Amino acid sequence: MTPSDVKATLQFSDGSPSMDLPIYKGTVGPDVIDIRKLYAQTGKFTYDPGFLSTASCQSSITYIDGDKGELLYRGYPIEQLAVNCDFLETCYLLLNGELPNASEKAEFVGRVNKHTMVNEQMQFFLRGFRRDAHPMAVLTGLVGGMSAFYHDTTDITNPQHREIAAIRLIAKMPTLVAMAYKYSVGQPYIYPKNELSYTANFMRMMFGTPCEDYQPDDVLVRAMDRIFILHADHEQNASTSTVRLCGSSGTNPYAAIAAGVACLWGPAHGGANEACLNMLADIQQMGGVAKIGEFITKVKDKNSSVKLMGFGHRVYKNYDPRAKLMRETCHEVLGALGLENDPMFKLAMALEKIALEDEYFVARKLYPNVDFYSGIVQRAIGIPVSLFTAIFALARTVGWIAQLNEMISDPEYKIGRPRQLFTGAASRDVKPLAER
Ligand SMILES: CC(C)(COP(=O)(O)OP(=O)(O)OC[C@H]1O[C@@H](n2cnc3c(N)ncnc32)[C@H](O)[C@@H]1OP(=O)(O)O)[C@@H](O)C(=O)NCCC(=O)NCCS
Repeated sequence: MTPSDVKATLQFSDGSPSMDLPIYKGTVGPDVIDIRKLYAQTGKFTYDPGFLSTASCQSSITYIDGDKGELLYRGYPIEQLAVNCDFLETCYLLLNGELPNASEKAEFVGRVNKHTMVNEQMQFFLRGFRRDAHPMAVLTGLVGGMSAFYHDTTDITNPQHREIAAIRLIAKMPTLVAMAYKYSVGQPYIYPKNELSYTANFMRMMFGTPCEDYQPDDVLVRAMDRIFILHADHEQNASTSTVRLCGSSGTNPYAAIAAGVACLWGPAHGGANEACLNMLADIQQMGGVAKIGEFITKVKDKNSSVKLMGFGHRVYKNYDPRAKLMRETCHEVLGALGLENDPMFKLAMALEKIALEDEYFVARKLYPNVDFYSGIVQRAIGIPVSLFTAIFALARTVGWIAQLNEMISDPEYKIGRPRQLFTGAASRDVKPLAER
């Protein structure tokens, strides 16, 4: 953090002493006002529910400029990473700060490959779930359960443990997601085959069976790999902040990542792509394209609580750059599969066009986000809707770990402990039951 020459001064209208607050500059993006001594010096807290104006940490991993619609991983624009790198190169970049050269990549891929299998006992753990359990419920359990299986890497203060836990989590997530899927459809698990790429391996574990091997299709593997790259990190979003907060207590990395999986599940976050597809299915059932006008009217009605899922973002007040890339992939995949006339896709395109021109959305800077298209792509690939968020979790795991490890290595790191503005009853006496 670079101190700024400028200082902020906080003044109170009741004549209490004013306070100078230091300001720090990042490389790019807004400066921050350091309020760490505020309580000690003034006896007051700041109030910022939803973290609208609060930087919870310093980070050098991912940068978003929401007004410009820019997303950088370690300084590299997402548009360049999506076309020049694969997911494991992106993982290496997020974890280590630089892109790998050829030998570093080979070494990293080799290490990930060595950890793709999960302890055989995991199968029996999985068997305890109902077959119709939501995959995110299953995944939250499986990832948390990893801490029971991999005791040797649970000391978050040990850099070697953190490194091995990172590789294990990245390597095993595809295996676990595919196992959760196979369990839900009653098919045998398919073991990883490490001669395949990370993403082709995942797709084989998803779609192969012991009686019919899966031949990875290049276009579909590239599309899935792009989904992984675009979801790999997104700075201090709800699930990442959850991972940091959970990890700040010193808990083990598997437990912290399980907390991230749980948070991601919500429809305002990673559950949005599932919610978006369900929304499209509902409109389709109501009558499809002809009913868009009626649906949009409901969305704009403040009393309806209906939202256009896949639109809007807390940070992007411009086109989400990931959405542009996903839109491109969407057209490529549907073209390759001959699904350009798929009614759901046509409906999505019509909805997108109307929303982009509608004054309500324009005035509020509501653009399609990545989830609007990623659901359509995944559905076309054959991923069941209920598994969408689990795939997001698979991809985001590397971001969570990179952020968690960054936090633990930060000399300024402390257990996270927000404060509150208390509005409940002040101290009062308990009356005996007979007098209440
Ligand atoms: C992502 C999201 C939670 C961001 O919320 P936020 O930053 O708190 O934004 P706000 O809720 O303050 O929205 C600002 C305004 O736009 C409206 N708005 C935001 N997203 C909307 C949507 N998807 N459909 C309709 N209206 C929306 C809000 O009602 C609000 O209107 P108002 O100013 O008249 O009250 C929100 O846009 C949303 O729920 N989107 C749909 C879910 C989704 O796609 N999530 C994935 C995110 S990657």
